[in-house]
Amino acid sequence: MKRREFIGTAMAGGGALLTGTTHASWGPKLLSLMPTAQSPDSRIEILTAEPIATIAPEIYGHFAEHLGGVIYDGIWVGENSKISNVGGIRKALVDALVKIKPSVIRWPGGCFADSYDWHDGVGPRDKRPRRTNFWYDTPDWPAGTPDGPWKFDTNQFGTDDFLQFCKLTGAQPYIAANLRSLSAKDFYQWVEYCNSPAGSTSLADLRATRGERDSAKVRYWGIGNESWGCGGNFTPEEYAAEYRRFTSWVPRYGVNLAFVGAGPNGADLDWTRRFFTKLNERRAIGSMWGWAMHHYSWNVSSGRTTDWVKGKGDALNYSDEEWYELLNEADRIDSMISECWNVMGEFDRAHRVKLVVDEWGAWYKPGTQINNTHLLGQQSTIRDAVLAGQTLDTFHRQADKVGMAAIAQLVNCLQALFLTHEDKFLLTPTYHVFDMYSVHQGKTALRTVVTSPKPGYTRNGQPAKLRGLNGSASLDGKRLVITVTNPDLKATRETEIAIRGASIKSVQGTSLTASDMHSHNSFADPNQIQPKDANVSMTAGTLVYKFAPASVTRLDIELA
Ligand code: AHR
Repeated sequence: MKRREFIGTAMAGGGALLTGTTHASWGPKLLSLMPTAQSPDSRIEILTAEPIATIAPEIYGHFAEHLGGVIYDGIWVGENSKISNVGGIRKALVDALVKIKPSVIRWPGGCFADSYDWHDGVGPRDKRPRRTNFWYDTPDWPAGTPDGPWKFDTNQFGTDDFLQFCKLTGAQPYIAANLRSLSAKDFYQWVEYCNSPAGSTSLADLRATRGERDSAKVRYWGIGNESWGCGGNFTPEEYAAEYRRFTSWVPRYGVNLAFVGAGPNGADLDWTRRFFTKLNERRAIGSMWGWAMHHYSWNVSSGRTTDWVKGKGDALNYSDEEWYELLNEADRIDSMISECWNVMGEFDRAHRVKLVVDEWGAWYKPGTQINNTHLLGQQSTIRDAVLAGQTLDTFHRQADKVGMAAIAQLVNCLQALFLTHEDKFLLTPTYHVFDMYSVHQGKTALRTVVTSPKPGYTRNGQPAKLRGLNGSASLDGKRLVITVTNPDLKATRETEIAIRGASIKSVQGTSLTASDMHSHNSFADPNQIQPKDANVSMTAGTLVYKFAPASVTRLDIELA
């Protein structure tokens, strides 16, 4: 079965500690890539004179869909809950999110978006209708899962609650419009509900009864979702016509609206090329801010199958081969971004339209969800942390192209940052990566050349390789941040780090790793994986760092 069909139906390294306390001045010459006595096997070269672009804060976005336990049990616990909440929203989640500076949150889907009527989720809570959720009929519900808002949505969490959630966490809202089953007029009215000035329209008055009196000034709007699949099963040409209809007149209320088109499923260049060809017939590219690609890492079958169900592996119980296969799948995002960008450039030579990766992450088979109501819920290990770091580093290196991204999904679903059930709450290894990496937001990405041996593994009986160390760097004045993942399950990578055009004053390190490749956080042991200070050492006047196997590392360097 294809995905499209389915939808249709820490102590790291090793060396000695220099954590911020040892300060030295090493000139650029001393930081050459000449082999040292120890002969590190890897090199990272940072070219301070070669800025790529500003890392859009929006790359650090999140996704919250009305799916399983994301909204109900994840975000929304209700105003009368014993669980600590702010206006019904889980407080522990808000507090932890604030720490990692979420830039945008995408809502209400996903596939759910193209079945959602926003009118159902506004006005008095006790008058809101119950509706069959888009995901009600999917085959992945564990047997005996009870009915509840995850199957029949009570609409207790609606537009005002979402906007409140964004406000509490400091994120910008990114709303996906229903293009498949509502009209363009409904879309305009949703924009009116959110953005028309206080007191100006009946919808602004309705907004004031539940939420904020003032305009929410929502800038980012998705025009449908996966329109090649659950979002209408359109051809690219049909979708282009719908996209034009939805975006050709939308009230702006002084907001610089940014429309995001439903882009390709992974590497599908045909969808992009045909869509833009059709859009261009009416010279409508100017109406688009971003083009959204989705890429999930799910097939760990080593080429034995492309079946959407059979190709998936387990979130906790996996072999070395599956570890490497998953990370190889994730690494494909790098070429997908470049190739899609090139096709976009055939029509948009100035590259005004940004690439948006608004669904990415690991997708495993069911079985490790912490509660049966958490459809597509899964556990998360150090493997997911490496995947997250690797992907974020790729986005930084492609900062001139990627304008926004959102990991799927925020809580209790797919590669979640949080797992919750009733009053229980934990941070996954992926959360810790976002915590370590969020400092890159808004900084200048620098060209970073990483050379390291590629881990070898056996793929369906044949020798195969994966990219070795993967990393990126960003600069803000004298503050340089380098983040690196080591996907190798066994090898520590002793690495020379050269900063071209600058010298180092001080270095600190943080690393996330585990003694076992299956390590994960659980309600019983919530801190099994968490970041630790890392050891940074100098060898013969050169900055050398030992990247532990299966690790994610951040080096904070103060330049002289
Ligand atoms: O994230 C789960 C689903 O995956 C989303 O609803 C859909 O857009 C994608 O296929």
